[in-house]
Amino acid sequence: MRPEDSSDLAPATAAAGAVEPDAVERAPAAAVPARTRKPLRRRPLGASLLLLVALGLVGAVYSLFAPANADVDAPGSAQAGRELFLANCSSCHGTQGQGSSAGPTLVGVGAASVEFQVGTGRMPLAQPGAQAPRDYVRFSDEEIADMAAYVATLGPGPSIPSDEDLDLSEADVTRGGDIFRTNCTMCHNYAGSGGALTEGKYAPSVNQTSPRHIYEAMLTGPQNMPVFADSQLTPEMKRDVIAYIKTSSEHPSPGITGLGALGPSAEGLFGWVVALGLLLACAVWLTQKAK
Ligand code: HEC
Ligand code: HEC
Repeated sequence: MRPEDSSDLAPATAAAGAVEPDAVERAPAAAVPARTRKPLRRRPLGASLLLLVALGLVGAVYSLFAPANADVDAPGSAQAGRELFLANCSSCHGTQGQGSSAGPTLVGVGAASVEFQVGTGRMPLAQPGAQAPRDYVRFSDEEIADMAAYVATLGPGPSIPSDEDLDLSEADVTRGGDIFRTNCTMCHNYAGSGGALTEGKYAPSVNQTSPRHIYEAMLTGPQNMPVFADSQLTPEMKRDVIAYIKTSSEHPSPGITGLGALGPSAEGLFGWVVALGLLLACAVWLTQKAK
C-alpha cells in the first residue's frame, strides 16, 4: 500500500514543481518537506520505527503531565467549577449546592442538568418567575463543563451525553416521529413549536434546540417536563427523536402557513372558509346597498 501511494504522489509533486518553479523559490520553507520526504521513502521501515518511538515518547510525556482528574464523568475541572459556582450560583443554590428559598438543591441533578440549564441560558436565573426562560448564554463551553463537573461531585445524576449518544447517522426518523407523537406532542405540539401549560408555564419550541440540549432535556426533565430515563426511552430511541425533530424543523410542514402542522388539506379548508366568508360579506354588503 505505502510504496504505491508514494509513487503515485511523486509525479504529482514533480509536476506541481514544474508548473510553478519560482513559487518554490519564494517559499523555501514549503519546499523542505518535499525534499526530506525522499530519503524517508527509501527506508520505510526506519521511518516507521522512528515514528513509533516518537509517538511512544509523546505518550509517555503526556501521561506524566495529564490532569489527574481526567477520569471523572464530566470533562471539566470540578475545582475551577466550584469557584465559578460560588461566585455565580451559590446565592440561590447554596454554597454546597444544597438549595435555598431562592433555588432548588443541585445534589443529584447531574452534569447533564447543568449543561442544559446554563447552556440554554436559563441559568443563572436573571429574575424569579413561573419558569426560567431560555436566554443568552453567559458562560463559555469550558466554564459550563467546569460547573457541570463540580455539580456532578455533589451526588450521582445523569452525566453529559457522549459523542456516541449524539451520533445520529443510524437514527430512524420515522420511528422518532412515532415516539415524538406519543411522548412529546401533548406539551410541545405536533410541530414542536411549543404551547401553554397551566399556571403561566409553557413548553417552549424545540425546533432551534441543539441535539445535545434535546438529549439533556429528555435525561433531566426540566420544570414540568417528565424525565425520560434510558429505561423508558433507550439512547437509540432518544437519537431517533432528535433526528425526527431536526428533520421536521429543517423541512417544516408541507403547507405554507404551518397551521399547527395540520398539513395542506387543513390549510385548503382554512382558505375555503376565509374565501367563503369574504364572498358572504360582499353579498350582504351588496344587498344592504340595494335596499
Ligand atoms: C436568582 C437565583 C438563581 C441563580 C443565581 C441560579 N439559579 Fe439555578 N435555579 C434557580 C431556580 C429558581 C431554579 C428552578 C427554575 C425552574 O425550574 O424553572 C433553578 C434551577 C437550576 C437547575 C435545574 C435543577 C434541576 O432540578 O434539574 C440547575 C442545574 C441550575 N439551576 C444550575 C444553576 C447554575 C449552575 C447557576 C450558576 C451559573 C445557577 N443555577 C444560578 C435559581 C437560580
Ligand atoms: C408534560 C409536558 C412535557 C412533555 C410530555 C415533554 N416536555 Fe419537553 N419541556 C416541557 C417544559 C415545561 C419545558 C421547559 C422547561 C424549562 O423551561 O425549564 C420543556 C423543555 C424542553 C426542551 C428545551 C427546549 C429549549 O430549547 O428551550 C426540549 C428540547 C424538550 N423539552 C424536548 C422534549 C421531548 C423530546 C419530549 C418527548 C420525549 C418532551 N420534551 C416531552 C414540557 C414537556
